[in-house]
Amino acid sequence: MAFDLAIVGLGVIGGNLALNMQERGIRPVCFDQDPGKLQRLAREGPRTAASLEEAIAGLSRPRIVLLCLPAGPTIDHLLRRLRPLLEAGDVIVDAANSHFEDTRRRAEELGAVGIGFLGLGLSGGASGARHGACFMAGGSSAAWRTVRPYFLAVAARANGRPCAAWLGSDGAGHFAKMVHNGIEYALMELIAEAHAFLERLLGCSAEEAAALFGRWNEGELGSYLLEITGNILRRADPITGRPILEVVEDSAGHKGTGKWASIAALELGVAAPTLIEGFGARLASADGRGRRSRATGWPEAKVERPDPGSVPPILEQALLAAHIASFTQGFELMAAGSRRFGWKTDLARLARVWRGGCIIRARLLDRFVPALARRNEEGGVLATPWLADRLRRSVVDLRRTVGFAARAGLPVPCLASALAWLEMMHTPRLHTALVQAQRDYFGAHGVRRTDRRGCYHLDGTRV
Ligand code: 6PG
Repeated sequence: MAFDLAIVGLGVIGGNLALNMQERGIRPVCFDQDPGKLQRLAREGPRTAASLEEAIAGLSRPRIVLLCLPAGPTIDHLLRRLRPLLEAGDVIVDAANSHFEDTRRRAEELGAVGIGFLGLGLSGGASGARHGACFMAGGSSAAWRTVRPYFLAVAARANGRPCAAWLGSDGAGHFAKMVHNGIEYALMELIAEAHAFLERLLGCSAEEAAALFGRWNEGELGSYLLEITGNILRRADPITGRPILEVVEDSAGHKGTGKWASIAALELGVAAPTLIEGFGARLASADGRGRRSRATGWPEAKVERPDPGSVPPILEQALLAAHIASFTQGFELMAAGSRRFGWKTDLARLARVWRGGCIIRARLLDRFVPALARRNEEGGVLATPWLADRLRRSVVDLRRTVGFAARAGLPVPCLASALAWLEMMHTPRLHTALVQAQRDYFGAHGVRRTDRRGCYHLDGTRV
């Protein structure tokens, strides 16, 4: 029997994808260097191979190889091993969180020998891989047509459509996954800041905060991250019986993709401060000892306790505004990547794909699908009717929330940066005229004037 595709790497993603595929009538042959993993998977049904060569030899043509390995040198190593075993027309899919520049390089190298290469952004973790993930593909469109049926079959579905799409050539899929993670970092931080507000300023218990998040999750703010936050807050520590958050250390880690998103935004000249803050807050959370030692003597903020009845709706609206800001910044970053690398990514398609299976799935994305289709009209996404209307109403509550948090000494970096960004995006004349004047004053860089064309120095001479 010839197999449909080979899955290489049987960690949580590879193993679960194999089971998901098997359940849908797809025949994968699976390989991992670790015999223990091979045996465990074989017990659940999927066929395994004792070597990479054996796995490839068992494939029908064109041969498809799905790599579910850690990003980095492991992928290059595997590609070197695979090259002599494959031929023109075969397809390799890299499902790791690879850097999009690596994917661009690999696509070019393999394309030169006729092997299709797809960089596949995959979101949804172990349970997504098992029951329906979100797939963001980049690479040759012919290669995507070859593998498409398999990924559509194991993708999550949202509004009746599978959450898997091709987004452009070479690195487009991995770039989209990087942007996804930039947004992921921001939304996680925003929700954590809202929780801190409830806990520290309102004195909410974990149970009360969970109930609130559960309620918000029913409305416009509904999202996977909000849902899991409620679940986490309701959890008790099995060791001590205390609410689980009380025993979790506060230094937040990362594996790099949020950092890449920040770097890409800076390099492409996209203002994405909320995404960058999402990463920055994790960095600032490091060094708990230092923070604890500096806390003594730090001026205490004395504020009135907010009215517990009025805060939840205000905070909900503040979160809504900040979520809209985060998603918009992410889509702008994707648009800039697409422009720079010639991907012609359909942003509405990306929003559609993010509606299911992935970590940032959220009801708001239903609103972004039509908004992104009108992105090139004056004012862009933020000026489209639904988003503009919601922002006008919710920004008022975002101002209140950030103001209150500032007076209370509560750090809310993502909420604050979303607010500053939104204010700037809606200000006809900004303070940055002074920055321009300063640049010319000490650096003779010249300024463009409001009253005539051309570039001038502050002394009125032309540059
Ligand atoms: C997903 C996640 C996932 C992510 C890890 C690690 O979409 O399933 O984004 O791919 O990379 O959860 O993220 P950290 O950088 O926070 O460790």
